[in-house]
Order: sequence, then C-alpha cells, then structure tokens
Amino acid sequence: SRGAAAGQVQHVFKGTFAHSTTAEPLQILDNTILGVDINGKIAFIEPGDQEEILCDKWGFSSSDVKSLQDKDFFIPGMVDTHIHAPQYTYAGIAQDYSLMKWLKVFTFPTELKYESKDFAKDVYTKLVKRTLKHGTTTACYFATIHTDSTLLLAEIVEKLGQRALVGKVCMDINDAVRSYREETEECIEETKRFIQEIINRKYTLVKPIVTPRFAPSCSTQLLNDLGDIAKENDLHIQSHISENKDELNIVKDMFPECGCYTEVYDKYNLLTSKTVMAHGCYLSNKELEIFCSKGSAVAHCPNSNISLCSGMLDVRNVLNHKVKIGLGTDVAGGYSTSMLDAVRKAIETSKILTIQKPGYETLSYKEAFQLATLGGSQALALEDTIGNFEVGKDFDAVLISPTTTDSSFDVFAGDTKKVIFEKFINLGDDRNVMEVYVAGKLVFPSMCFL
Ligand code: GUN
Ligand code: FE
Repeated sequence: SRGAAAGQVQHVFKGTFAHSTTAEPLQILDNTILGVDINGKIAFIEPGDQEEILCDKWGFSSSDVKSLQDKDFFIPGMVDTHIHAPQYTYAGIAQDYSLMKWLKVFTFPTELKYESKDFAKDVYTKLVKRTLKHGTTTACYFATIHTDSTLLLAEIVEKLGQRALVGKVCMDINDAVRSYREETEECIEETKRFIQEIINRKYTLVKPIVTPRFAPSCSTQLLNDLGDIAKENDLHIQSHISENKDELNIVKDMFPECGCYTEVYDKYNLLTSKTVMAHGCYLSNKELEIFCSKGSAVAHCPNSNISLCSGMLDVRNVLNHKVKIGLGTDVAGGYSTSMLDAVRKAIETSKILTIQKPGYETLSYKEAFQLATLGGSQALALEDTIGNFEVGKDFDAVLISPTTTDSSFDVFAGDTKKVIFEKFINLGDDRNVMEVYVAGKLVFPSMCFL
C-alpha cells in the first residue's frame, strides 16, 4: 500500500554520499538511499536496506530509484564564498603585481567596461556556466559599480540555476582610476535600487548582498549608510579585510581613530552574523575575537593570497578562535574558478605554515573539503539551507565519477571509497563532474550548456 506522502519525492538516489557534519569533517555513507522532495529538499537519507520501507512511506517504487555506478559518489555542492565575476576575463593572466598596483593596472580599467550590458552578458554567462561545471552550486559574487549589469548577473545566475549572493560594488573613493567610482549619494541610491529590484523579482536562488569594496575605497559616510541599509533590510554584507600589508597601512592612515582594520567595519555596523570578509591574512587574535563575537565570517582565498603575494592565512588559528570560515576562489586575484583548486591551495598554504613552524597542526584534506562545503554554508549564513546531506536541507549536490573515461586520475584494484575520495580531492577536476543539482534541479548538464 502507498503511504500518505505518495508522489512527494522527485528523485531517489542510492549509493555513496560523502559529506561533512559539524562533528566530522568527512563522513562517507555507503549503500545509502536519499530522497529529494518536490520542493528540492532532502526528504530522507537512510541506510540502503530501508529501501522497501521508504518506498512504502514515500510512495515510490524500486524502479524509481537511481542507483549510482559502483565507484561514483555524491558530494554536497561546493560554496565559493568570494568571487569577482567581472574579473573572469583576466583569470590566468596579470599576476605579476601586488594588490594595490594590480587593482590600478588591471582591475579598475577592466571593471569600467561593465557599463556595457552586452559585454557583461557574455562574461557573466561564461563564468556562471564554468563554475557550475566545476561543481560550485553556491557563489558569493562581487560585480561592479554598475547597477544594471549587476542585475543582469543576478538574472543569469537564476536562469542557469546557481544559488548566489550578488553584490553591486560600492566605492566613492578611487585615486587610482578616477572615473571608476560613484558619488556617495548616487552609490547609496543605486544600492537601494539594486536591492529593491532583486526583491521585486522574487528569485528563488539569488539574494542581494551589501558590498562596500573595501575600506580604502569608501568614505565614512558611505560605510555608515551601507551599514544602515543592511540593518534595515536584514541583508548579507561582504567586503575585503586585511589582505595585504600596503592595504593595512592605507587603512591606518585613513582611519586613525580606529585601533585596527576590524574596528573600521565594526564602527559602521558592517560586522554582523551575515557578514563575510575576504582574506583576513593579517587579522590579530583580538580582531578574530571580534569576528567571533559578531558571528562574522572569513572567506579564505588561498590562490589569490599566493598569486598576488598578499599573505598566508593561518586557518588553524581562525578555527581555534571559533570564527566561521569558508573558501573562495577570488577570481581573478586567484586564477582558478575551481573550488577543488581552492581546497588544494588551502592545504598547501597550511603545509607551508607547517614547514615554517614545526609542530603546527596542518589542515587535513578532510577539513579543507569541509571548508569548501559546510564551512562555506556557515560563512554565508546559509547552513540551515545547504552545506551537507541532512533532512530538510536543499539538495545541492555534485555527482562525481572517478572512473569516467577521461577521468583526471586512476583507480586501482583495492582502492577503498576513502582512498578514491582522497584522490579526487587531490587529483580530480571538472572531468569527474557528471551531474550538478541545485535545490533538487539538474543544472548541469542541461540545455543551457549546449
Ligand atoms: N581589495 C579590493 N578590491 C579587491 C579585488 O578586486 N580583489 C582583491 N583580491 N582584493 C581587493
Ligand atoms: Fe576579492
């Protein structure tokens, strides 16, 4: 007989699921059956031997169950907590300068081009497809100062089925490229227009995020008003903090009344439980304590930190301070759009710190994976919705095949599930990504990719 909930599941998968919990950085669930309800949420996740009971309870038959191939497994969709969509055009080049000069020579002149919506449409479409293909189901985007192009990014993200926070960049100071900034008043009004328009569109996957670029490009008036806007609308906030030593000196000169960089943002109510700050390489323990007490998060961007010779974030110390932390690609300070690259660069940075400081507790591959998934969901205050395979969360997931014909690595007789997973973390890439789901919907491969 069919249960009361008949017809309430849209997918039932059976096989291996690898994910993190708050207690365990890596849990590999073998022979497991997972159901996704019609709203895209995980309805159940149970041992495979419960199939018959679940069939009855949820009103599906065994023929509805999609059994994964022997060595395949699902991981939760990865969360890129910091990425600059407009900078994608120069990902992989332009990395021979340090931050402030790089912004002047490459970043600001490039971002100016997004006044053109046609230009924006091409780049943004390519980037969202690329990140989805790599298994990034959620991204926290910086766009540019241009409201209409940023609205277009939101539209493209929603259409292609990615989950995202999208920010119109706010800056009213720019001595390097004077034409790339707004007047304070205009910036505030445009931010309000951006937020209102996103709210009106009633997107299911995209939310607006208040985005002061970083303290050096914002007047105190702008910081103050953005803090108010975020508070009035209970919005997410993102910016950069303590990435590079020259930047620290600029902030010291600009805000002599503040004892540290963190205090600058805190003073204007920009550190909340929905704030994510990129980099934080040079945050002191005292600053980390402020982050902890505010519930604000750090987006660790190791590729960018190394590529621009900015610094090395001590992730262990951030974790010890109980500060929320996720990983970010920081395209194009970071050259890779892949979160697996971010995972590896996070491990490598931690190993370099270990070389410098024997006895240092190196970040494990399991912990780095946790940062890319559950950690990212926490950093974006989305842990009630995404991050791992728990009943009630949205099914954001990536189907990995280690044995696909063009796999980037090889599997040998006797390799356990755990061994294969570790190889995937260190050697895998988008060739191993077979399917990507966001909120239960297959978004890769899909018609959009043809
Ligand atoms: N600080 C301010 N703007 C930027 C940016 O675009 N990229 C990076 N990496 N740091 C920044
Ligand atoms: Fe950045």
